[in-house]
Amino acid sequence: MHPLLNIAIRAARAAGNVIVRSIEHVDHLEITTKGRNDFVSDVDRLAEQEIIATIHKAYPEHAILAEESGEAGESETVWIIDPLDGTNNFLHGFPHFCVSIGVMVRGKIMHAVVYDPMREELFTASRGAGAQLNDRRLRVSKRKTLDTALLATGFPFKYPEHTEAYHTTFKSLFSQVEDVRRGGSAALDFAYVAAGRVDGYWEIGLAPWDMAAGILLVEEAGGTVTDFTGGDNYMAHGNVVVGNLPIQQAILDDLSPNLTNELKK
Ligand code: IPD
Ligand code: CA
Ligand code: CA
Repeated sequence: MHPLLNIAIRAARAAGNVIVRSIEHVDHLEITTKGRNDFVSDVDRLAEQEIIATIHKAYPEHAILAEESGEAGESETVWIIDPLDGTNNFLHGFPHFCVSIGVMVRGKIMHAVVYDPMREELFTASRGAGAQLNDRRLRVSKRKTLDTALLATGFPFKYPEHTEAYHTTFKSLFSQVEDVRRGGSAALDFAYVAAGRVDGYWEIGLAPWDMAAGILLVEEAGGTVTDFTGGDNYMAHGNVVVGNLPIQQAILDDLSPNLTNELKK
């Protein structure tokens, strides 16, 4: 295993322990509001500190881009961290959330860890070396048509300005697929595409830390990620269409005519 992936796993497990220890006490946590429907607790911050301490113990010179503490340092290696993806689930005691860590070297995500501490599921990938769930190799699903597909999505609950446009895309896709899931953790949505548990996934307005690890998991499991134009500018705008190749293409084809000008990116 690559040493960078090894440290990423150690950091994710340490953060996972912080989160699991705290789940019994969610009612007593101090919660701050960062924006509309956007909350942060001490657990998010503590888990993030744990991750950064683990990274800096091994690689003091590496740079960090983390959801709660922002950017730190300058280096060709940047660790992109979401210490708790699915904060709203966590705060409600809904057991579906994870730790997400992507390691970017010279602008390319090279290693990825998404760790679900409740199910003890560790999704990992290194560029060119495939994706794993615990010790099992991951492949995206083989379903080819929307009528048999189970899709994942995210509601734009932090961006009311996109509600109408999102509803249009949902209405159109929902009428064609088997069913749609809204789990509440973008990083797990990517991981579930990689694991073939869902066939495709779309969401508007993600942040780099929601996507960094998940993108590599999906690509290394044989899947595809694009923005809403079919291009690769997703890190800038956070609009993603994900899936095995035929389902990803089918979602993209269906979305395109339904997008507002603002979302055509
Ligand atoms: C959120 C979750 C959610 C997605 C949001 C993200 P957070 O991350 O991934 O599924 O719909 O866009 O912001 O705030 O829980 O880390
Ligand atoms: Ca997140
Ligand atoms: Ca988060």
